[in-house]
Amino acid sequence: MTARLAGKRTLITGVGGGMGTVAARMFAEAGARVVGCDLHEEGARHTESTLRAAGLDVTVMGGVDLGDPTAAAAWVEAAARLLGGIDVLYNNASTQRFGSIEELATADWDFTMRNELDLVFYTCKAAWPHLKQSGSGVILNVGSIAALRGVEFMPQQAHAAAKAGVIALSNNLVVEGAAYGIRVNVISPGLIETPNTRAFLADPPERVQRIVLDRIPVGRVGRPEDIIAAAIFLASDEAGFINGANLVIDGGGSILG
Ligand SMILES: NC(=O)c1ccc[n+]([C@@H]2O[C@H](COP(=O)([O-])OP(=O)(O)OC[C@H]3O[C@@H](n4cnc5c(N)ncnc54)[C@H](O)[C@@H]3O)[C@@H](O)[C@H]2O)c1
Repeated sequence: MTARLAGKRTLITGVGGGMGTVAARMFAEAGARVVGCDLHEEGARHTESTLRAAGLDVTVMGGVDLGDPTAAAAWVEAAARLLGGIDVLYNNASTQRFGSIEELATADWDFTMRNELDLVFYTCKAAWPHLKQSGSGVILNVGSIAALRGVEFMPQQAHAAAKAGVIALSNNLVVEGAAYGIRVNVISPGLIETPNTRAFLADPPERVQRIVLDRIPVGRVGRPEDIIAAAIFLASDEAGFINGANLVIDGGGSILG
């Protein structure tokens, strides 16, 4: 059987930890040639060395701050040179500051916009000419259920607004990309167990257990693999008619509100 993403020249952001590391591995296992990046040098090095040792075609550039438009464009260009073009751009990286409206400082708001929304614009803009050239380019952006409704268990104004921005940006890229065969889809995860959420999930406050975890119909929190399996499908040619979707992956939690 031909690998689902055979030869797809793929850029993945934030592969130094969390879902990004799993994405780099699973995309490469599906046949993609992957160039990733991360802000953190150590995580980037670790992902590259581990995956290369497993025989996978993965290169990771560390110390790349995608919130800086010049650095974001430089990474995209370096990756495109290495791969000879770009077929898939998977914007996974983000970092944010949570807080209630009373606690959140303007600097926290700006930080979150920079590191959740601006960076997506920068990489999309830089990759656009290469995706046009590909003829069947794909952008995968990561939203969140927080962008779609109020979240009760933790105040997340800036995060929710930034992710809603990612969804709105994606919708409009769909329109612009149509003439060039570029498809753009969003995946909006619910609560997923990553190093980011592991401590919190290991000992969830009673209130979180009651209002979030007990209300996931599938009966468990998400795993990175739940998200990446969908991302691989959306990046593949099998999903050629899927464009402008916002795929919520939350075990059915948002159905219960
Ligand atoms: N974990 C969840 O429950 C959850 C839920 C909904 C949405 N998401 C989204 O899924 C994606 C992955 O989440 P995760 O939990 O794996 O996150 P994570 O924090 O574990 O990993 C994100 C990676 O992105 C990198 N990064 C952050 N800002 C960067 C920047 N400016 N430049 C370069 N690299 C940068 C980080 O260093 C990190 O390695 C994110 O977009 C997140 O918002 C996660």
